[in-house]
Amino acid sequence: EPLASRKRIQSIKDDDKRAKVIECLQPIIFDENHVKQMLTTFEEQIKLANSIDENDRKKTDLFWENTFVRRLLDGSENGTYLGMDLGGTNFRVVRVDMINGKDTTKTKYYNLEKSLLTGPSSVMFDYIAKCLASFLKEDEFIQNQSLPLGFTFSFPSQQKSLKHSILSTWTKSITCTDGPGLDSVVLLEEAIQRLGGLPIPIDVVARISDTTGTLLAGNLVDKNCRIGLILGTGSNAAFVEYVKNIEKWDTCYKDDDTSELVVINCEFGAFGDNGCLDFMKTEFDHELDVHSNHPHSYTFEKLYAGHYLGELVRLALVKMVKARLLFNGQSSDKLMTRWSFTTTHVTSIESDSNDDHTNTIKVLKEMEVYNICSEEDISMVREICELMSQRGAYIVATAMVTLLNHINLPEVTIAIDGSLYEHHPKYHQHMADLIAKWRPETKTTLKLVKDGSGQGGALVAAIERKGH
Ligand code: GLC
Repeated sequence: EPLASRKRIQSIKDDDKRAKVIECLQPIIFDENHVKQMLTTFEEQIKLANSIDENDRKKTDLFWENTFVRRLLDGSENGTYLGMDLGGTNFRVVRVDMINGKDTTKTKYYNLEKSLLTGPSSVMFDYIAKCLASFLKEDEFIQNQSLPLGFTFSFPSQQKSLKHSILSTWTKSITCTDGPGLDSVVLLEEAIQRLGGLPIPIDVVARISDTTGTLLAGNLVDKNCRIGLILGTGSNAAFVEYVKNIEKWDTCYKDDDTSELVVINCEFGAFGDNGCLDFMKTEFDHELDVHSNHPHSYTFEKLYAGHYLGELVRLALVKMVKARLLFNGQSSDKLMTRWSFTTTHVTSIESDSNDDHTNTIKVLKEMEVYNICSEEDISMVREICELMSQRGAYIVATAMVTLLNHINLPEVTIAIDGSLYEHHPKYHQHMADLIAKWRPETKTTLKLVKDGSGQGGALVAAIERKGH
């Protein structure tokens, strides 16, 4: 739908103002040409990521990482398994009890203090080891051997085996003083040692990313689930691939496992760092990047993930203020402060029903601009939130179309975990619309799998134990 025909834009009374608003917001529109160009670009980059030629692989920022997860659940799993999930703003410990493939899952959340995210990594790992110890103390376990645990650690890493991976860089809100180059499972095991052990012995059998976890959790309830997608603080996906399609492994990976499947972690957050997505970047994306925790990296996820969406909206609001198209050219210190406008604000504003502004007004009061706000301004703020969210949903949905084209099955369920997808009232519909239009060949279901990422840690442990 063109900007000019959107209701709120049409209702701007002054012709000159309306024209300027359209000019200002036009770059946020993700139109058919963008979809087409992104589909082509994504496919080209997958080819590079998958290429047998190392020089090709160096040209792309898609990791296309081997997860070493070669099997899905087959319904015969039994026993007790643990998962730990470190990746966003929460830390979780999960217990899954399996009886013939049916699960009972218990998840406990722990708050990650901000100070833990910026200090030495050992301090953060000491804390999560303590959380695990207290989880184990509170629960009852019947166990005569160590409990298998899968560690969901959702930062870009080079996976060396199911258990071992090397952190490439921190992303999202973590800026610990060390970590890159280190093995997350070793960091965890060292922290457990410093703690003097755990109430019950555990055996860390795997490190996975939240995308793989969500895929496995989705597959537990729906056998058509072939993709796991995270739409939370960050964003990324994993999917079930046939080993024969991984061209690059002819030279760099040999395996005697007979399974024909492998889960691939796309690690597409950094997609576009090489400039291939510059065609769709707006001035807001550029400005956000420069002032982000990890500048000049993670281009793709910065376009829409939860850590960034609110700030993108704020930057658009500020531009409108400066052009005197909002709040009569006035603002507040709060609104002018970077990162003060969060994705929670966006979600809350978009949760207002059409003729009700309760949430929007609450946010405007919190941003200290309500006193300078007209009716038209209220409607404009909502419009900008909607446009930015819609752009984000379309972008990630286009990535899903690329994967669906690649997988090429008649029916696919995409399991989705993350606060953005869970709480945003319209993300689901926008994504479903775009996917139905651009990938009509596949009956696609988008399914929320809450806490799938941590549960998947325990599930990968169950899969792994059964293989032995
Ligand atoms: C970031 C991480 C990635 C993770 C994603 C979703 O992009 O680099 O590993 O899967 O966030 O949490």
